[in-house]
This record gives sequence, structure tokens and C-alpha cells, in this order.
Amino acid sequence: MKILLLGSGGRESALAWKISQSPLCEKLYIAPGNGGTDQYGENVAMSALDFESIEKFVAEKGVDMIVVGNEDPLVAGIQDYFAEKAGNVLVVGPSAAGAALEGSKDFAKEFMTSLGIPTARYRSFTAETLADGEAFLETLEAPYVLKADGLAAGKGVLILPTIEEAKASLREMLGGMFGKSSATVVIEEFLSGIECSVFVLTDGNGGYRILPVAKDYKRIGEGDKGPNTGGMGAVSPVVFADEEFMAKVKSRIIEPTIRGLKERNITYRGFIFLGLINVGGEPMVIEYNVRMGDPETEAVMLRIDSDLVEAMAAAARGNLGDTEMRISDEPAVTVMAVSAGYPGSYEKGKLISGLEKVGNGTIAFHAGTKKTENGETVTSGGRVIAFSSRGTTIEDALGKSFAAIEAVDFEGKNYRRDIGRDLLNYTR
Ligand code: AMP
Ligand code: GLY
Repeated sequence: MKILLLGSGGRESALAWKISQSPLCEKLYIAPGNGGTDQYGENVAMSALDFESIEKFVAEKGVDMIVVGNEDPLVAGIQDYFAEKAGNVLVVGPSAAGAALEGSKDFAKEFMTSLGIPTARYRSFTAETLADGEAFLETLEAPYVLKADGLAAGKGVLILPTIEEAKASLREMLGGMFGKSSATVVIEEFLSGIECSVFVLTDGNGGYRILPVAKDYKRIGEGDKGPNTGGMGAVSPVVFADEEFMAKVKSRIIEPTIRGLKERNITYRGFIFLGLINVGGEPMVIEYNVRMGDPETEAVMLRIDSDLVEAMAAAARGNLGDTEMRISDEPAVTVMAVSAGYPGSYEKGKLISGLEKVGNGTIAFHAGTKKTENGETVTSGGRVIAFSSRGTTIEDALGKSFAAIEAVDFEGKNYRRDIGRDLLNYTR
């Protein structure tokens, strides 16, 4: 098969690494890719949102399958575009109607509520219903959770400690704080617990496979302090996502989700990412995403021993049948090296050295990197490289990733030394 992978982050590096190992993969293109994805396939300078160029490229090269890494092209309708223009090309990812599970928080909440899927109590408001929104806030207890309805580059969720701040933020959001994305705001009850990410590959016809469960570390600072980032590291498995917890996830969340999509005639053949929170042993949905997680994928891919291309192609054809998803018992972790200043402003173009010293057992998945004209690898983003390792234990895997991250250098390198520590100390 000829495969085109869309995206340019650490997630796409990990997907490219995994795809390139498949005996079914005859040729892999990554658009636009980054300074490391060319180890696994051919980078193509093309935007994931430029559907016409992608269509031309796919026709020219005889691409059989498109794997969509990030949500933007899905929300913009890439699956629908190809279904209409080139129905023989497989697309791994939902239709725009399905991608609304991530693209509209209001839709996702309405969907969950109508299916009885456990999630925080909520209501949605617009500028016209601001007063009702303020009144609804009065019925909740602090802290207050406000979410922009639309995509806001991961920044659209505000958690406010006081009712005054919550009301002020509601006014600002409805007044255009996130442009059109916050023209509708979801206000919801605050849930307290530990989060985890569950990934499901579905064929849209009732078939699905659960991928390894992971936990990501969102805050910049150790001990989960400071502002949110795209993610500073991840570990898999997650100790509390045991058989009992996952049985609840299946029956209360995954199966109703898949049934709900089918009942609404929504085409969904691809990954569903359930952002869950464990509230006293009960899984509740914080959010849906319609793609794999970043940096979770950089750990999750290391634990999949079966052929992911076979599984993705079967899902995209609408029939997972008895396709296997074989998962290793060995844990995997990823630790992200980031630029000084991230998630605020940071400099780019810093020379990255020592990549050749990364030992066996660790993979340096490039995220924000690029190659210069003379072949040097330099930083080009906030999250620079995800150092991913599998080990006999989480500590063992972390030891390998930390050793690798120490061997590689660039000016201003920063990372969290406490990835996974909360799970190592976790008691029920
Ligand atoms: P989201 O963009 O929906 O993933 O929200 C970002 C983060 O905000 C989540 O990962 C949670 O840590 C937090 N969050 C969102 N909704 C809630 C909630 N209802 N209760 C507590 N924390 C929440
Ligand atoms: N790691 C969270 C996300 O990809 O949205």
C-alpha cells in the first residue's frame, strides 16, 4: 500500500515509525512532516488543509490510504471530500459530522447526554443568554469550568476559582475571546479525579479495538504546576485503568458512543480518543477527540506489537472483522524535551546535538524540528523531541528516556523529571 500521513508533530513521527514497519507499507509519504519523519518515509511540502493539492498528489502517486494525524483536516471535512471525489482512497478518520465530537463541545455534550454517557452536568450559552449563564454559574460550586464550543488550539478551556472570575470570563468568552469558537460557551460542573486517555479504533459498523491506555502530563511544571502545554510526557499503561474500570468504559462509554454515531448515520471510521476522568472508580468523559493524542501516541505505538496498517486499513474499509490488535504487557513512556519559554514565546533555530548518542531501547520522535539546507537538525517548535522507551517496568522505561534526553542537547532544553511519578505512587 502507498500511504499518506498528514501532520507534523511527535504523534506523526510515532505513527510514521509504526506504519513504516508494516509489511503492507510499500511507500510512506508524510505531509508536511518534520526534521525526523524523513527517517520513516518521504516528507512532502503540502498543507494538511489543502485538500485540492492532496487530491492531486494522491492521484499522481497512486496513494491507497490517507491517515489523518490531527483534527483540523477532519473538522474541515477531508473524509467527506475524498468520499465524494475519490471514493477508492481509504481515509482513516471520521467525516466532518463525526469530527464535531471534537470540533463542537456543545455537540459532544448533547451527544453524550442523549445517550446516557457519564459526563459532567452542563449547559450551553450564547451572548443572548448571558444572564442565564450567570444564573447557571450560581447553581454550581467552585471551581467553574468554561469551555469555548469550537476549536481553540487547546486553549479554550478555562477553570476559574471564584464566581466573580467565572462571570467575567463568561462575558469575555462570549464577547469574542476565542473569536467564533467562543460564540457558544459550555459551562460544566467541575469533576475531581485522575485523568487518562483511552484510544479506540472503530470501523463505523460496530467493530472496534481498544489501544493501550495512557496518561499524559499537561502542565509545564513538575508536580503539575504552571500553565497547560500540548503535553510534556506520557506513560502507558495506567495503573487504575484495570479490568474492572475498563469494563465500565466499554459498556458505559465506548459501546454507546459507537451505537450513537450509527443511529445518527454519522460516518466514523478512525480513532476515537476518550479523555476520561476517574471519579472514585467511575469513568466519566471530559472530552472526545477524533484523532490520536500527542504525546500519548509516542508511548502507545511502542506497545502495539501487531500490524497497525492492517488494522487501520480494515477500519477505513468499514470492517475490522477479526483483525488483531496485539498489545505488549511491557510499559512504555515518553518524555518531551521543550524549548525555553514554552508554552509562552520561545526561540527557534537552535542546533540539536547528540542525537547519535540515543541508546538502543529509546526512540527520539521528532516534533518541533526541521532540517536546515546543510543537513543540520534545529528546533522549530515548542515541543521539540519526544524520547520514548519501552521497559520491563515504568521506572526502567523512564530511566532509558531520561538518559537519552540528557545525551541530546539544544540551547534552552527543558523537560519534566517527574513524568509517571504520580502513578508509581498511586494507591486506590
Ligand atoms: P479539554 O480541552 O476539554 O481536554 O479540557 C482541558 C483540561 O481541562 C482537561 O484535560 C481537564 O484537565 C480540565 N477539565 C475539563 N473539563 C473539566 C471538568 N468538568 N472538571 C475538571 N476538569 C476539567
Ligand atoms: N494529549 C492530549 C491531546 O492530544 O489532546
